[in-house]
Amino acid sequence: MKIGIVGGTGPAGTGLGLRLSSVGYDVDIGSRSSGRAAEVVEDTLEQWTDSNFILRGVSNEEAARAEIVVLATPWDSCAPTAKSFKELLKGKLVICMANALARVGNEFHALYPPRGSIAADVQAAIPLSRVSMAFQHLPAKELGEIQNNMEGDVLVCADEQGSIDETIQIVEKMPSLRGLDCGSLANAAPVEAFTAVLLQLNQLYKTRSSVRITGLE
Ligand SMILES: NC(=O)c1ccc[n+]([C@@H]2O[C@H](COP(=O)([O-])OP(=O)(O)OC[C@H]3O[C@@H](n4cnc5c(N)ncnc54)[C@H](OP(=O)(O)O)[C@@H]3O)[C@@H](O)[C@H]2O)c1
Repeated sequence: MKIGIVGGTGPAGTGLGLRLSSVGYDVDIGSRSSGRAAEVVEDTLEQWTDSNFILRGVSNEEAARAEIVVLATPWDSCAPTAKSFKELLKGKLVICMANALARVGNEFHALYPPRGSIAADVQAAIPLSRVSMAFQHLPAKELGEIQNNMEGDVLVCADEQGSIDETIQIVEKMPSLRGLDCGSLANAAPVEAFTAVLLQLNQLYKTRSSVRITGLE
């Protein structure tokens, strides 16, 4: 199965792409410049030359042709970028991993887009696609360190049950990660916003925190 990551050349998209390719997905890392994507992928694969990972650097347009698409641009470009590929994204699962954050002094604060969450904004921009929200709380650096399993829960929201289930299936291909059904995109706002709290914890406790929900089997 091919997964395209639009805006995949940043640390989050590249880390997720490498991890997904390490569990058998065929991954296209997209960029506004296919040359830049090719360079980023070459650097990313440098220490994995003996692997059979399928990871390619392509244009965002090419990444949007994949069967499943992840949006990994900065939050304010997610909806406009998705809209620019709306024909290619029609009917597809589009996973939005963005967080809207602003640094204010020493703190990170959550920003709330007009529909409450970036994922809801993206769904409104591409109504004929099936948008889910996931991966907000996984730190990019650890995503890219594929020699280590990542522990934690990935909170997933979408307006359609099939989109939640498909997203959780992808999450759980990655060892030690658990995907949790957190309901419709109405719940995406607090999930996205909670990232500000994690970043605050990281700063105060000099760590890289993630999320684990207790009380579930
Ligand atoms: N960093 C983390 O630990 C982390 C963890 C979980 C989720 N996230 C979320 O995941 C997303 C990606 O994070 P990141 O840290 O990798 O972000 P980033 O480095 O700031 O941006 C990712 C890529 O987006 C593209 N981009 C930048 N401005 C754009 C624009 N105006 N229009 C279209 N594309 C643009 C750039 O690629 P090209 O120049 O190659 O096109 C860039 O490499 C963010 O929304 C972030 O909130 C981040």
